[in-house]
Amino acid sequence: MREAQGNTLLEVKNISKTYQSRKRQPVYALREVGFSLQEGRCLGVVGESGCGKSTLCRVIAGIEKPDVGEILYQGEPADHRKIRSSLQMVFQNSMDAVNIHLKAGKILAEPLENFTSLNRNQREQEVERLLELVGLSAEDKAKYPRQFSGGQLQRICIARALAAEPKLLLLDEPLSSLDVSVQAQLLNLLSDLKKELHLTCLLVSHDLEAVYYLADKLLVMYGGAAVEEIEDIRDICALTHPYTRRLLEAGELETESGEAGQKDEGILTEEKREYLAASFREGCVYAGHCPRAERKCFLERPGLVEREAGHRIACHFG
Ligand SMILES: Nc1ncnc2c1ncn2[C@@H]1O[C@H](COP(=O)(O)OP(=O)(O)O)[C@@H](O)[C@H]1O
Ligand code: SF4
Ligand SMILES: [Mg+2]
Repeated sequence: MREAQGNTLLEVKNISKTYQSRKRQPVYALREVGFSLQEGRCLGVVGESGCGKSTLCRVIAGIEKPDVGEILYQGEPADHRKIRSSLQMVFQNSMDAVNIHLKAGKILAEPLENFTSLNRNQREQEVERLLELVGLSAEDKAKYPRQFSGGQLQRICIARALAAEPKLLLLDEPLSSLDVSVQAQLLNLLSDLKKELHLTCLLVSHDLEAVYYLADKLLVMYGGAAVEEIEDIRDICALTHPYTRRLLEAGELETESGEAGQKDEGILTEEKREYLAASFREGCVYAGHCPRAERKCFLERPGLVEREAGHRIACHFG
């Protein structure tokens, strides 16, 4: 396994975040998640719906506070007021992320007003440059969001994020709502931009193929926990966690992990439900679904430990 090079831009240290469900049960959105990300690299975060990917992005972006844990940016505790421009986010639904009453030019001018000292003329030119940078044309500045296709609108959102000249781009399922061919075009764009602008990225996706294309390293999440991590995505076949194997072999990423005992409520005995709920609190997060689970798995949570250089895994038997 090859180890990462370069300065560390972002360190996420043992972040936990618990919400309350409507039934007032704890939802462990993040459980002691930690990783570091070097400048110019892209971390792919994969895991099924509900495993905590968006919560992770929101916590890193400072939109939400973690219950415990720390975010370090360039080696210092992240002060989100200071690093607002350095850290930008692109969301899944671009239509929800833009003001539909503003023309594209105005949407892009806003961050330039907030984060740069450019004058009006310079801003105008910069808007045109940004549009071209993301594969649109300068004339598109006069259009409203509804006049763009989904893919074009996502390009506007990427351009808006880039307007602030960020170092770190958080991409939360940026391709999920688009057609496959449009996804491929946007992946190419992101890949070019990453190289050209030396961007550091966190790409969240449930699409392992997309992640493989863009990311340099990979973090696999399940039930709010990081279950496996590799520094070099080219070593993807060396992943051994039972959940990751399932993803790799079956490409099954669409199902909801849900909370302990909820998904199978109807068919489980009370005893088994309590056992599973306990395992979700204290044992391995994957114990309820793992074909290799043994008694220990339900009682003790495995930590993410280094199996070999550049490969960490959370499994008692990994
Ligand atoms: N504001 C919230 N209140 C209650 N539960 C939440 C909230 N946000 C997220 N969750 C729950 O936290 C878990 C992780 O959610 P999320 O981070 O959105 O997962 P993902 O992005 O991987 O689909 C899910 O079970 C989700 O229902
Ligand atoms: S610790 Fe046990 S339940 Fe968890 S992944 Fe490993 S074998 Fe499966
Ligand atoms: Mg999400």
